Amino acid sequence: MSKHTRILMCPPTYFHVNYAINPWMKGNEDQVCQESAMEQWQALRDLVSRFATVEEIEPQQGVPDMVFTANAGTVAGKRAVVSAFAHKERQPEEAYFARWFRNNGFEVGELPAGVRYEGAGDSLFDRAGQWLWAGSGFRSDEAAQDFLRDFLGVEVLGLKLVDERFYHIDTCFCPLTGGYLMYFPDAYDVASNERIHARVPAEKRIKVTEEEAAVFSCNAINVGKDIIMHECSERLRAALAEHGFEVHTTSLSEFLKAGGSAKCLSLKLDEPEQLEE
Ligand code: ARG
Repeated sequence: MSKHTRILMCPPTYFHVNYAINPWMKGNEDQVCQESAMEQWQALRDLVSRFATVEEIEPQQGVPDMVFTANAGTVAGKRAVVSAFAHKERQPEEAYFARWFRNNGFEVGELPAGVRYEGAGDSLFDRAGQWLWAGSGFRSDEAAQDFLRDFLGVEVLGLKLVDERFYHIDTCFCPLTGGYLMYFPDAYDVASNERIHARVPAEKRIKVTEEEAAVFSCNAINVGKDIIMHECSERLRAALAEHGFEVHTTSLSEFLKAGGSAKCLSLKLDEPEQLEE
């Protein structure tokens, strides 16, 4: 059913940790094993391929975090807003991602100068409604939300992050098929939690614990009723199964050293899902 979903990934040919722009990277400089990173990425790619069609962007030297394609931009229909990275280390990725979007038939929107925004790391569509949750607090500015609304023609709801370990919303927030939501509430301020409560009914909110969030369980790829993640506690697996979801785990320990996991390593190209035929 969901084979139609296309997902963009970038091989970790040049993946490395040689700077620290989030708390997970600190102390992990030069600790990546290139060989196991490649193996783990390939295993993830194989797993994703069971549920979706994987497309690849060519990796580039000098931008080790380009493997995290979630940060390429935000896609809606045939339009894409390209990221404007907060840190200079990642800014050279913008041109590569913009070129890929243009070469693949997307109309590319560029944010007003000076507005920071990190793509699908900080923007996620609800899987039942048509609205886009957009994050701010660490990497993306609230000002980006007006542009997303205008250029993509979608409703945008803001979420404010308050815990630096969870610096993108996709590290602690995962909308699931049917309007469910798996998330770590403490990563958000009070107003954001109220906004979540107003949109997602209690029976559809699946909360994860701090320990589960800390192994990036929310940083998951959801296609249909299948969910791919790095690690899943028995408790969370059972909670998701109660709503008909099946969890598939695959180790991504090398990428956790850079502060990323399954979802960060992927970008859905057919968004929002409801636009698919
Ligand atoms: N090292 C990368 C960074 O700090 C990790 C990005 C993770 N991506 C994500 N979508 N959460 O930017």
